[in-house]
Amino acid sequence: MRWLFAVSVLAGQSFDRDLQPVFRQHCYACHAANVKMGSLDVETMDGLLRGGNRGTILVPGKATESRLYLTLTGALEPMMPMGDDKLTAAELDVVKSWIDSGARPDPGGLVWRGATIAAGYGAEIRLFNTTGQLTRKIAAQVGTVRAVALSADGTYVAAKGPEIQRIFEAATGREVQAQPLDFHSSRTALSPNGQRRATMRDDGSVTFEDVR
Ligand code: HEC
Repeated sequence: MRWLFAVSVLAGQSFDRDLQPVFRQHCYACHAANVKMGSLDVETMDGLLRGGNRGTILVPGKATESRLYLTLTGALEPMMPMGDDKLTAAELDVVKSWIDSGARPDPGGLVWRGATIAAGYGAEIRLFNTTGQLTRKIAAQVGTVRAVALSADGTYVAAKGPEIQRIFEAATGREVQAQPLDFHSSRTALSPNGQRRATMRDDGSVTFEDVR
């Protein structure tokens, strides 16, 4: 079992762990949230799905049909990264196998309260009922969702991204509150009545704030 688990982890490329370090080193200088040459941001799943000036750059499952990959091999001009820099064969392989395996974001947390299950997935909060049926997708607008929280009865759902947290009414998707976050805070939870939020920081301390 242990061995099988290790193999399955190695077989799939993780968006955060494997892909983004390659892009951080070779692409962020020109394609990130704050500099979008060619209108392209490769820092977030959202940005990759949006594509650039010439439209979509990803065909999930098919690297050799994806402009993202084809500009890296030089099959499409202009070859990327622009300039003298070049990806190593191993880095090209990371990009290729991430796209070939479906171009998926890393799961961003799963939580179950009452009759509601919330999952963070890419830029979305996905809500499910207890039979696993997808009932609502909410555009979380926090960049890549890193964690989700639900109030005890499932009325409110919160999504945390790298820098901001937003809270929504689960039934309507209406935003209740947006808050900038300490970049280092790594855990958030809503109180049972959804009126307070607890945040655990990297040093293990917990802080509380009113939601409204
Ligand atoms: C030095 C700046 C620079 C770097 C570094 C760079 N790019 Fe680009 N990239 C550009 C510019 C400028 C364009 C627009 C070119 C054009 O439209 O002709 C572009 C266009 C693109 C496009 C086509 C977008 C579209 O829809 O037209 C892709 C895909 C792309 N880059 C991927 C990457 C990737 C992936 C990396 C990192 C491995 C990277 N680039 C690194 C400057 C850069």
